[in-house]
Amino acid sequence: MKLLVIGSGGREHALAWKLAQSPLVQKVFVAPGNAGTYREPKVENVALDPLHFAALADFAKTQKIDFTVVGPEAPLVAGLVDYFHEKGLACFGPSKAGAQLEGSKVFAKAFMQQHHIPTANAQVFTEIAPALDYLQHCSFPIVVKADGLAAGKGVVIARDLPSAQTAVEEMLQHKRFGIAGQQIIIEDFLEGEEVSFIVMCDGKNIIPLATSQDHKTRDDGDMGPNTGGMGAYSPAPIVTPSLQDEILHEVIIPTIEGMAKEGHPYKGFLYAGLMITPQQKIKVLEYNCRFGDPETQPILMRLTSDFAQMCLAAINGQLDTYKAQWDSRTALGVVLAAHGYPDNYHKNELIPTLNDIPPSDQYKIFHAGTKVEEGRIFTDGGRILCVTALGDNLQDAHQKAYRLVKKVAWDGVFYRNDIGHRAMDRSSGNR
Ligand code: AMP
Ligand code: GLY
Repeated sequence: MKLLVIGSGGREHALAWKLAQSPLVQKVFVAPGNAGTYREPKVENVALDPLHFAALADFAKTQKIDFTVVGPEAPLVAGLVDYFHEKGLACFGPSKAGAQLEGSKVFAKAFMQQHHIPTANAQVFTEIAPALDYLQHCSFPIVVKADGLAAGKGVVIARDLPSAQTAVEEMLQHKRFGIAGQQIIIEDFLEGEEVSFIVMCDGKNIIPLATSQDHKTRDDGDMGPNTGGMGAYSPAPIVTPSLQDEILHEVIIPTIEGMAKEGHPYKGFLYAGLMITPQQKIKVLEYNCRFGDPETQPILMRLTSDFAQMCLAAINGQLDTYKAQWDSRTALGVVLAAHGYPDNYHKNELIPTLNDIPPSDQYKIFHAGTKVEEGRIFTDGGRILCVTALGDNLQDAHQKAYRLVKKVAWDGVFYRNDIGHRAMDRSSGNR
């Protein structure tokens, strides 16, 4: 088979790498890919924009691509899967209607309320005066969210009334996020521990993927600004088998059934961002209509099943015939970012030691914002690499990953030193 992966991040490197391992797969194209996919055996980059649907579909047609897997949310929300289907091309991901679960927080909130899926209480506003008025009666912190996609910057946790007012004004008055902020949600702040719960779905049947936990804030100790994710590990011991069962029954199954009932059967990866409250209650913070980044990297490190076959089963509505197998070890990935990320950062820095690291089945360096020039690898984005290692337990995976991080680190690098700390604190009884 010949496959196409859309996107250029660490997630897409991991997707392409895992798909290419299948004996059924002859070639995986990545549009546009990065320096990591450029170097991957059986993988080839194609310089196409993920939002240029016509060019992507032409490519898939001329290359006789058997199926396409879409990594990032933007093309999904813009309807890439619908476009491919209209052209008779197989494509794994939700339709535009399904992707609204991520593309519109107002849609997602109304959907959850309609289908009794646990989430924070919230109000929707399109006008500034009623929003400011509502804030007068809120207790703080409170969460202000832009409705649409805002590159991870559309959520403000306001500690007090003035910062909540500023957030509302920025979105509704100054149009900071354009149409993405034409509607906003003001929602109760939830305490607890966040968990990423990701499943594969064929419209009806669900395969829960291995559990994982991301680290959303930039700095050690869960401090600093929110980012796309600074590291992740799998499995996440907080998700016990009984909690997993509750998540499936309270969140995932009602979501898939609800989407089908509303006439939008959901095919693709579904990512529920959950808060597990101190009372062990589950609340949905957000849906993503795609695999997580960086969760994909440790999760796929642990997948021992044929991923291409799994995607094919999902496309054909036959996930009920498939059982995913997982390596029992722990995988832990540390994101190496550019100094200054997520704000202003430098690009074009040489990563001098990358070429000296031999391949191994114990670890994998997934690329995100990288490019190759004359055989040397340079930084080309905010999140640059995800150094991922397998270990016998979390401590072992942590040690192995950080040993490699130190070998790869360049002058302008930034990374967290405490990826996995919550699970390690838990196992050492510190909580
Ligand atoms: P979202 O894009 O809705 O997931 O929000 C991004 C991040 O903001 C989440 O990963 C949480 O860390 C935080 N967040 C969102 N909603 C809430 C909430 N209601 N209470 C506490 N934190 C939240
Ligand atoms: N790691 C968070 C996300 O993929 O949205």
